[in-house]
Amino acid sequence: MCGIMAYVGEQSAFPILMEGLKKLEYRGYDSAGVAVMSDELRLLKKSGKVNNLEKYAPDDITIGTLGIGHTRWATHGAASDLNAHPHQSMSGRYTLVHNGIIENAAPLKEMMLKHGIVFKSETDTEVLVQLIEWYQMRFQLETQMAVQRALEYIEGSFAIVLFDLHTPDQLFVIRRGSPLVIGIGDDEYIISSDPMPIAPHTDQLIYLEEDILGVFKKGTAPSFVDAQEEMVEQTIEYLSHTYEDVMKEGYDSYMLKEINEQPARIAHMLDRHMGGRANDELLDRLPTIISDIDRIIILGCGSSRHSGLVAEYLMETYARISVEVEYASEFRYKNAMIGPKDLIIGISQSGETADTIAALKIASSSGATTIGIVNGVNSTIARMVDHVLYLHMGQEIGVASTKAFSAQLTALTLISMRIAEIRKTICQEDTDRMLLDLKNVSEHVKTALECADIIESISLDLLESRSIIFLGRGMLYPIALEGALKLKELSYIHAEGFAAGEMKHGPIALLEERMPVIALVNDDCSLEKLMSNVQEMKARKAMIIVIKSSNVTLSAGVADYIVDMPDCPAFLSPIIQSIPLQLLSYYVAKHKGCDVDQPRHLAKSVTVE
Ligand code: M6R
Repeated sequence: MCGIMAYVGEQSAFPILMEGLKKLEYRGYDSAGVAVMSDELRLLKKSGKVNNLEKYAPDDITIGTLGIGHTRWATHGAASDLNAHPHQSMSGRYTLVHNGIIENAAPLKEMMLKHGIVFKSETDTEVLVQLIEWYQMRFQLETQMAVQRALEYIEGSFAIVLFDLHTPDQLFVIRRGSPLVIGIGDDEYIISSDPMPIAPHTDQLIYLEEDILGVFKKGTAPSFVDAQEEMVEQTIEYLSHTYEDVMKEGYDSYMLKEINEQPARIAHMLDRHMGGRANDELLDRLPTIISDIDRIIILGCGSSRHSGLVAEYLMETYARISVEVEYASEFRYKNAMIGPKDLIIGISQSGETADTIAALKIASSSGATTIGIVNGVNSTIARMVDHVLYLHMGQEIGVASTKAFSAQLTALTLISMRIAEIRKTICQEDTDRMLLDLKNVSEHVKTALECADIIESISLDLLESRSIIFLGRGMLYPIALEGALKLKELSYIHAEGFAAGEMKHGPIALLEERMPVIALVNDDCSLEKLMSNVQEMKARKAMIIVIKSSNVTLSAGVADYIVDMPDCPAFLSPIIQSIPLQLLSYYVAKHKGCDVDQPRHLAKSVTVE
């Protein structure tokens, strides 16, 4: 993870770095730092968020017109001032910021320690900057060459920006596995982990290719060389996307705002995709894409995988095609048997999740067709897949996936219906009716949000719970998993989701008196079975909370709390039932005093394994 921001040009670098780093905090927020060059190099780094760093900045830091900055998600070493980036080589000649992970940092450090190199931090990044200097000194290399030689020995992923005190007007950048974008302005370069902080400055971008070393100097055209020291060209692209300046708009958190904007955003997304205004053409090409496909494999992590699990039910039920859903992190190492007759769907809100990117690369190289379902416009996944479907939900700032998750479910429902239509596995009349129902789902989401008050009062009863169980069956089982994930990541209360029928195979032993069990109920064929499972929990004195479609009638006394959701067709219930669970985790976290937008230890974009 981690966010990189760098600037070289005519303007004061510090405010540009600060503004950019704040936009990159979704990549990590446990510490931040900058190095700005003026008459001398000023290094400022602190644990905590970017706002905290700003408080320690000396007035004259604004003089410099070249600087590098970083916001960190710790991989090696605690979130401390010392471990914050930038890191420096022993002599102080090189200063570096890094996004990624150096997997062989330990043996490299050991080797350098034997040669008398002194380390100040516990980070893998310091190993990298020391290694560059070690090569430079040992072989008397130019910096560019020293960087390339050092990187030959690096295992892992990196995007780096390097400053060399001997050439104080230029920056060196290179990446492998982690993203880096360069904005080209008038006599200035803005380098960042993502285009968003560049957008206010210029619309000309270079998405730096892997293992290409770029050198940026004010007033001079950039130069790019490959590992053989050959000059290469990099394509300049124009930013096609405008980034809104996202505000909380009166809400106490981005998360609550994002929860509440779901009806409008989902309606907008469906309008674009169903009204043919989406520009990404995936749905138009679907007949050709699936014409020779035997199987669909869905890849994702966290919430994105949960939406894939819902799609498995939808696609198998309605489109009658075999679907497998995999953790991207497992798929990449399992020697998967895939080939040209497989369609691989990678789901990712950010489009930058390292495991999903790596899994999709494997799928592509095996000859499979790849589709990306992403929210992050021009993200790595959007750029690498054969076909992309954008969620058009606007930027999601809260670390917990809310509007992106409901959008994934909505998009996957639409794709499932289209595949069913193409494969003629349901009659046209039914497809038309279901597509019409889907088109109206935003109205149901709006109604679902009206449960906020009752959910808040239930949340007060859960604050002291040590563990909470979520149950579902069929396509609500993945929503139970999602409810548990959301609750634990935001409130730090242990929670697990189970397929309700599995409880008696072991997990029921966990039940204690008043342990909350949240059961998700719709009116599909498993209703009776699920309610029997709930009775089994009730008999063991659990606190039962049922979230159900309003057309489902329950026998008296079965639940401590009942939350009614709008009556809608069962295939839409995953979208609808995810709403009260988002609200529940929000209120529990809020009343426990947790930071709902930036929960501890997490980052919005998981760019390391
Ligand atoms: O950006 P992605 O959708 O690829 O991210 C995957 C997971 O890291 C993400 O869904 C995570 O589980 C969320 N924090 C859940 O709210």
